Amino acid sequence: MSENENYQDFENPQDTGTTMAPESGQAQEGETNVLLGKGLDIGTANIAAAVQTPEGSVAIHLERNAFLDIKGDVYSKNMLTKLKVPYVVHNGKMVVIGESAFELANIFGRETRRPMKDGLISPSEVDALPMIKLIISKVLGEPAAPNENCYFSVPAESIDADNNVIYHQGLFEGMLRKMGYNAQAINEGHAVVFSELAEQDFTGIGISFGGGMVNVCVCYKTIPALSFSVCRGGDWIDKNVATVLGIPVSKATYLKERGVDIRSPKNREEEAIAIYYRNLLNYTVTNIKSRFESSSNMPTFPESIHVVCAGGTSKIEGFEDVFRQEFEKVDFPLDVTEIRRAPEPLNSVAKGCLVAAAISD
Ligand SMILES: Nc1ncnc2c1ncn2[C@@H]1O[C@H](COP(=O)(O)OP(=O)(O)O)[C@@H](O)[C@H]1O
Ligand SMILES: [Mg+2]
Repeated sequence: MSENENYQDFENPQDTGTTMAPESGQAQEGETNVLLGKGLDIGTANIAAAVQTPEGSVAIHLERNAFLDIKGDVYSKNMLTKLKVPYVVHNGKMVVIGESAFELANIFGRETRRPMKDGLISPSEVDALPMIKLIISKVLGEPAAPNENCYFSVPAESIDADNNVIYHQGLFEGMLRKMGYNAQAINEGHAVVFSELAEQDFTGIGISFGGGMVNVCVCYKTIPALSFSVCRGGDWIDKNVATVLGIPVSKATYLKERGVDIRSPKNREEEAIAIYYRNLLNYTVTNIKSRFESSSNMPTFPESIHVVCAGGTSKIEGFEDVFRQEFEKVDFPLDVTEIRRAPEPLNSVAKGCLVAAAISD
């Protein structure tokens, strides 16, 4: 890697303009000197870190989990400099990572490369590891103290795919340890419980609706009773919508994210999106019910519980209503008081990882 004018400084993510102040980020009163540790959400679409600011509040640093390589010639270099796009040099090519890669790919009509696929490190992307390491360093920064706790999210085993979570988890444990962290894996659905169900004593169901997967955790007083994932998510919706409409997948993603109310689709495209959303929610709820009923040693929940949904796929308009409708169709084995969406669906898992790190000692 070489030093260039706009070579990126990954140790100072605040300087790159990608820091997002969480709407609800609050100072931990009187605890400015207590090290909370860090939380890291390693998702197929987005990587988010929850870190403590010097003032003691919590900030979320979010980046797209994507990169774009560009020929290392003078012309391209000048172009990146002119556009003020930060890059690194990898194997003789200039590489742009995260949100900038996404923006640049859109400008030039190219596809970004993706380090992960279906919730796990991609087997078909040779540069997956060094690139994802750059993105993680950018959002996480250096440890505030040697061996600082870093809880990172991992998917649960899928019930509908043969995937290898153990290898994925081991890779990131090793990577974070080398970066100076005490790395601990936490299930993604469990992280949603930590972030959204504190008032319910960390009892209830946390569901993360991501791009590649849906992760579910049924939790009783911080202890997971049941965790699993299904290999369907936002990408599955996009792929199916693209097939039935005969359009490119990226167009389907665009239509979906542009703003659709799945309760009242207005044209053929929106109809297709609504049909697959409903199917995804039905599939998720049906599987929670059947897993719960077939598992032995389930705790008895003396009170009725809350269900909280997070993740980018839960951001669509009408999500909560359609989820409730599909929920009411199945005869669910638990009494449920409330079904709600996390106030910041994209930040929830990272925040939950931070809560796990903070209460681990
Ligand atoms: N406004 C939106 N409406 C519907 N889907 C969205 C919206 N914003 C993002 N998404 C979808 O959310 C998914 C990514 O969510 P995220 O939780 O970051 O996933 P991951 O955990 O896989 O990284 C993608 O499928 C994306 O299309
Ligand atoms: Mg996720």
